[in-house]
Amino acid sequence: MGVQFTWLGHSAFAVDIDGHPVLFDPFLTGNPLASTTADQLDADIIFLSHAHGDHLGDTVPIALRTGARVVANFEICNWMNGNGVSNTHPQNPGGGWDHGFIHAKWTVAHHSSSFPDGTYGGEPNGFVLTTERGQRLYFAGDTALFSDMQLIGNLGLDVAFLPIGDNFTMGPEDSLEAIRLLRPRYVVPMHYNTWDLIAQDAGAWANRVSNETQAQPIVLDPGNTFPLP
Ligand code: NI
Ligand code: MN
Repeated sequence: MGVQFTWLGHSAFAVDIDGHPVLFDPFLTGNPLASTTADQLDADIIFLSHAHGDHLGDTVPIALRTGARVVANFEICNWMNGNGVSNTHPQNPGGGWDHGFIHAKWTVAHHSSSFPDGTYGGEPNGFVLTTERGQRLYFAGDTALFSDMQLIGNLGLDVAFLPIGDNFTMGPEDSLEAIRLLRPRYVVPMHYNTWDLIAQDAGAWANRVSNETQAQPIVLDPGNTFPLP
């Protein structure tokens, strides 16, 4: 029991929550870092931060095969319903919902959001997940640094998943300020090294996190798993 997560590359994670398989932003097909393929993944719930193709990814085929509930903003859920995925649950910022084994609260993110065909995907999001045992995870999605991360940090975070790639999201420098606001026990970098535009030195980033914040950095190779202590 407890929480363990596997980085699948980019912002995709397979997370085991007290024995329940969950996916974050499952972008496998076309992901140069992908450690597995979409047909290998199981899910009870798929959480989606926004509609961009590098996050929406393989959600439709995985949801259709597994019957997983897709939790995303209102516009993405409508789009899912139109693409044959009926098991959806819409949330928007500020709203929380108990999904059985996990409580999810939706947050803002500063970014954009459209589907691969260019249609409007609603606002981009992050989310805070709280397990039945009280472990709390924050997945920032694609976002810039914003000062309200301090309020998210006030919830008490065990782990934060933060983009560090720069160019499309916050980079390493801003992520250090985000960590100081969020105050998680552990921090996991994502959304880097997938393409040249977001190439980063995760080792150098981890050294700075250790030296300049109270959080412990967890740098994973694609396919690696970390059990949350
Ligand atoms: Ni994006
Ligand atoms: Mn992205």
